Amino acid sequence: MPLSVKHLLGIKELNANDINLIFKTADNFKAILQRPVKKLPTLQHTTVANVFYENSTRTRISFELAERRLGADVVNFAASGSSVSKGETLIDTVKNILSMKVDMVVMRHSASGAPWFLSQNIDACVINAGDGINEHPTQALLDGYSIREKLGDISGKRIAIIGDIMHSRVALSNIYCLLKMGAEVTVAGPPTLIPKHIEALGVHVSYDLKKTLEWCDVANVLRIQLERQHKPLFSTLREYALYYGVNKAMLNSLSKKILIMHPGPINRGVELNSDVADSDQSIILDQVENGVAVRMAVIYLFSGKKGLE
Ligand code: CP
Repeated sequence: MPLSVKHLLGIKELNANDINLIFKTADNFKAILQRPVKKLPTLQHTTVANVFYENSTRTRISFELAERRLGADVVNFAASGSSVSKGETLIDTVKNILSMKVDMVVMRHSASGAPWFLSQNIDACVINAGDGINEHPTQALLDGYSIREKLGDISGKRIAIIGDIMHSRVALSNIYCLLKMGAEVTVAGPPTLIPKHIEALGVHVSYDLKKTLEWCDVANVLRIQLERQHKPLFSTLREYALYYGVNKAMLNSLSKKILIMHPGPINRGVELNSDVADSDQSIILDQVENGVAVRMAVIYLFSGKKGLE
């Protein structure tokens, strides 16, 4: 079954077949990445532009490694230091990059919907690397892939997403991905950081961290996105850590051993203590490792897709 979409704008637009195809393709690339020679010639006639209007460590490096390991030519654009500061628009910037015979665009932007807007205006495949508080589809794919790898399947598993649900594109993409793959999902955090009516997406809501950890098989712990909060939504980071920070004593008090995930970057001592982040229950670095294979699968499967959406 081919992919059902021309661009990867969000998990919302994908179906379970698309996600399974990406996972199975990533399995093949993960096996190749264990070999001494990791580079393939598959996309040697393809050029990919990584267009980042917002800071990134993991996603940008992971996409670049994925593209290079597929043999593609890569051009990196960061808005800081570019002609964006002289007033150049997003469309002009990307059209100028594309006129240099670039085939695909991977884009991160602080504005929700920016990758969709681009897909309406350029004749090249767009991959969303995170847009505002909307979606971060490749993060959700690598998170789902890591759960599948560790637990054998996503279907039937209980996954908790904990923290700043309101401002997290990782949360929304994970909710779509996990529900499409048959998991049960609870979002947990302080009431001010959980959107009203989020139950309508099909998730449970909890304000009690201990009960949520006792319920779940996997806890995906999210960063407080202070840069997206325009008014205080809790008293202090210290108080947040007291009520919603995950620590080892708490995990040890549970009736079973759960897996801990985090998309990064971690604010150690706030949402996650170091004794958890660095413990054998943490699969955080496995997530990062899997990100390269999953992004290779995404770039490979979407390469050659063209045309306005
Ligand atoms: N997980 C994630 O998106 O991290 P970066 O912001 O470092 O890319």
